[in-house]
Formats: sequence, structure tokens, C-alpha cells
Amino acid sequence: MKALVLSGGAGTRLRPITHTSAKQLVPVANKAVLFYGLESIAAAGITDVGVIVGDTATEIQDAVGDGSKFGLEITYIPQERPLGLAHAVLIARDYLGDDDFVMYLGDNFIVGGIADLVDEFRQDRPDARILLTQVQDPRAFGVAELDGSGQVIGLEEKPEHPKSDLALVGVYLFTPKIHDAVRAITPSWRGELEITHAIQHLIDRRADVRCTVIKGYWKDTGNVGDMLEVNRTVLEDITRRIDGDVDEASQTVGRVVVEEGARVVNSRIVGPAVVGSGTVVQDSYIGPFTSIAENCRIIDSELEFSIVLRDSTIHGVGRIESSLIGRHVEVTPAPSVPSAHHLVLGDHSKVQIHP
Ligand code: DAU
Repeated sequence: MKALVLSGGAGTRLRPITHTSAKQLVPVANKAVLFYGLESIAAAGITDVGVIVGDTATEIQDAVGDGSKFGLEITYIPQERPLGLAHAVLIARDYLGDDDFVMYLGDNFIVGGIADLVDEFRQDRPDARILLTQVQDPRAFGVAELDGSGQVIGLEEKPEHPKSDLALVGVYLFTPKIHDAVRAITPSWRGELEITHAIQHLIDRRADVRCTVIKGYWKDTGNVGDMLEVNRTVLEDITRRIDGDVDEASQTVGRVVVEEGARVVNSRIVGPAVVGSGTVVQDSYIGPFTSIAENCRIIDSELEFSIVLRDSTIHGVGRIESSLIGRHVEVTPAPSVPSAHHLVLGDHSKVQIHP
């Protein structure tokens, strides 16, 4: 069995934190979403992985390399434009050969991995198996309609009036039957070859398409609250590890990770929390469910239930909570006179300030 991981896509559809970089590299607990996917694939006993790359190919390849750090053998498959998930299957035909495969969307996060699903698929081998999960607003997803016995009878891509609240999760298990289906369909209204349509094509021809409903699913929809929650879920499982420098005046309480090369000076960190390498935390308090990435400076500040991406500085600003702070950001106090806010905010930023 092989895996096909989709890490293509153009920069244009990306959300606040990923305007300038690949959305598959958004960090959760200081690790790229894509890496959790690759680790799940390795844990399911798959080693041959084709990775679809687009505009952000260099960034993805720099981060993932040849796959050996995950125990994988990775082949990159360039996609000229994001012409759809079924298009990705089409261009991977030679790579996939006649093997069964799991297709994994690189911006999806499945709590608990996929090993059991892959094992089950190896045994049952239906023509395809899809994963579904209940979501609040299914209109942003592919949506499945099931009959009374739980059999999938219809799939729609981003419907205006969804027939259920069961969204398609970005992990699909396929036999080679999918190849005829992706060749048979035509582009949708958004100009993409939709995998949803290819699976519907199988259903219409009475192929054996089964589904599994899962819990613990997240994808980068640009929703900050969701991202803080998935960060919290992952941090809940970390193991305490202090590899960096923590001075005598500091305290680290509970499940705290301080990476090698990080420095904690005269500060208190209450876990679960992670501090990336090269980061300095000084005269500060870091509270639970906080991830601070590499090369940040947190000085004379308090931070809780938040994510800070790399190379950012937070200096002398009191308490910050429930916040997502991007890369190379500076948060500092304003001069007391004149009393005014000075802001340099990127597109789609959201800021709450005291009037
Ligand atoms: O995340 C689950 C959803 O993924 C499903 O519910 C939908 O049915 C499915 O169509 C897909 O919807 P999105 O429109 O959200 O997919 P997105 O464009 O975000 O692409 C998903 C991943 O695949 C992302 O990592 C980028 C990559 N991709 C996407 C396209 C369209 C490619 O590598 N090539 C492509 O052509």
C-alpha cells in the first residue's frame, strides 16, 4: 500500500497565518500539521509516499526532505496548478501503479492517527472508504448523505444547503478503481476535478464505498479558536522535557518542554506548554496550553492559551490570552504620550484593543 499526500495549492486561497507560506506547515504544538500526517502514515506501516507539491514546493521540500526522518521514502510529484484533488490522483497514476493507497490532505489533522483504519482497509478492501465527521458548518466541506443503514448514498462538494452535518475528512482509502473514476469526471463550477465527484461516480456504479465516522478532526479553516483548541489537544499529551537552559530563579511546573537552545530566565512556566529552540523567555509568565516556536523573545510579559510562531517578540505588554501571533511579529508597549495605538497589521488581521 502507498500514500499520496497533497501539499500543493496556490498561495491565494490561504488564510491569515498562512498568507506567505504553505498552509500544510502551520504548526500545532510547534510541529507542522503535515508532519503529524506523515507520522501517522509511517505508523500505519506505509513507507512509499508520493507528495503532491505546487507553488510552495521549495518550502515543503526543505521541511520534509527525502522523508527519512519519518522512516518514509518520499517522491515529490509537481502539480502545475491546483486543479483539484482528483487531478492530483490523475497525475500520480504512474507513481501509484496498481497499488491500493491512502490519500491524505496535508492540511488535515486527525487525532489518534490512521493505523487502525489502514489495517481495516487492508483486510476488508472495499473499493473505497471515506472518513466523515460532524461539523457545525458543513458548507465549507464535502458533505455526505447516508441512508438508514449508514450506507453513503450521495456526496456533494461545498453545498449551499447541506443534506447532513457529516463532512468529508481529508483522508481517503482507495483501490485502483478510483483511477477510472478520476478520468471519467469533468471539472466542477470552481474549475477543479473534485475527488467528491469521482467517489460519487463509484457510488453511482454500485461500487462498494464505505464510510467511517470519526471524532478528533481539525483543518486549517483560518479559525483562530479552532487552532487554539487543536493546539490544546496536542499539548495535553506531551511529556515533560527540559533540554534548554532554565536558570535558578525560574520555575517550570508540570508538562513543560523547553527545547535545546532555548533559555528561560527569571520566569515561571506552567504546563502544558512548549518553548522552541533559540527562544528566550525572560521575566515572564507562560501559562497552560501555550506553544512558543523557535527564536522568539518573550520579555516582561504574560502569555496563556496562545500560539506564537517563530521569530516574534513580545516585550513589556502585560497579559496576552487566547491569541495567535504570526512570524516576525513585534508586540511592544505604545509610548504613553500621545495616547494612540500604532498598528501595522497584515491582511485579515483581527485585533482587540481597549478604546
Ligand atoms: O479538508 C477536507 C476537505 O478537503 C473536504 O471536505 C472536501 O470535500 C475536499 O474537496 C477538500 O476541500 P478543500 O477545498 O478545503 O481542499 P483544499 O483546496 O484546502 O485542498 C486540500 C489539500 O490538498 C491542501 O493541502 C492543498 C492540497 N491540494 C489542493 C488542490 C485543490 C493540492 O495539492 N492540489 C490541488 O489541486
